[in-house]
Amino acid sequence: MAPADRDAFVARTISTDRLELLPLRVGHAPEMARVLSDPALHAFIGGTPYTRQALHTRYERLVAGSPDPAVSWLNWVIRLRAENCLTGTVQATISPSGSGTAAEIAWVVGTPWQGRGIATEAARGLVAWLDRTQVRAVVAHIHPDHHTSAAVASAAGLKPTGRHHDGEAEWRRTRTH
Ligand SMILES: CC(C)(COP(=O)(O)OP(=O)(O)OC[C@H]1O[C@@H](n2cnc3c(N)ncnc32)[C@H](O)[C@@H]1OP(=O)(O)O)[C@@H](O)C(=O)NCCC(=O)NCCS
Repeated sequence: MAPADRDAFVARTISTDRLELLPLRVGHAPEMARVLSDPALHAFIGGTPYTRQALHTRYERLVAGSPDPAVSWLNWVIRLRAENCLTGTVQATISPSGSGTAAEIAWVVGTPWQGRGIATEAARGLVAWLDRTQVRAVVAHIHPDHHTSAAVASAAGLKPTGRHHDGEAEWRRTRTH
C-alpha cells in the first residue's frame, strides 16, 4: 500500500444514537483498566485483564501504530454519552488482502454495560464508517460458542463464511458497491 493510501486510514470520532467512538488515547488507560477489569471478558478471547500500567503500555504501542507500513491499527474507546463514561472498545486492523483492502474488526464491552445493545450499536457505527473508506471487506473471527458476539456481527451485516482459523469462525461482509 502506498503511504498516501495508508494515511487515509486514521481513526476519527464516530457518533451514533447513544455513543461516541473516540480515537484511542494513552490517557484513556486508567478508566479503561477499570472498564475491562472483569476476567470473564476473556472467556472467549483468552488472556487476563491488563493492569493499569500494562494497559498504559499497550495503548502507547497501539497509538504508535503498526510497525508494518501496509497495515493500519485503528482503535476507539466507546463512550456512552448519557452516562459520560467509557464502556468498551472497538478496533479495526486494516491491511491489503486478495480481494482489496480488508478490515479485521473486534469489540469488547465492560461487564456492567453488557446486554444494552452497546456492542451492536458500536459495531454498526464502525462498519458504516468503514464503508465510507476504501475498505472492501470487513472480517471478524468469533468463537463458535460465542453467541452474543455472533449476534453483534450479524447485526453489523457480517455473515459466517464457513471458514475457521485457530478454532474461530470467520465472519465477513464484502461491499458490492
Ligand atoms: C461480545 C460483547 C462485546 C457483547 O457486548 P454487549 O454490548 O453486551 O452486546 P449487545 O448488548 O449489543 O448484545 C448483542 C446480542 O447478544 C444478545 N445478548 C446480550 N447479552 C446477552 C446475554 N447475557 N445472554 C444472551 N444473549 C445476550 C443481545 O440480545 C443481542 O442480540 P440481539 O441483537 O439479537 O438482541 C461482550 O459480551 C464482550 O465484550 N465480551 C467479551 C469480549 C469478547 O468476547 N469480544 C468479542 C471478540 S470478537
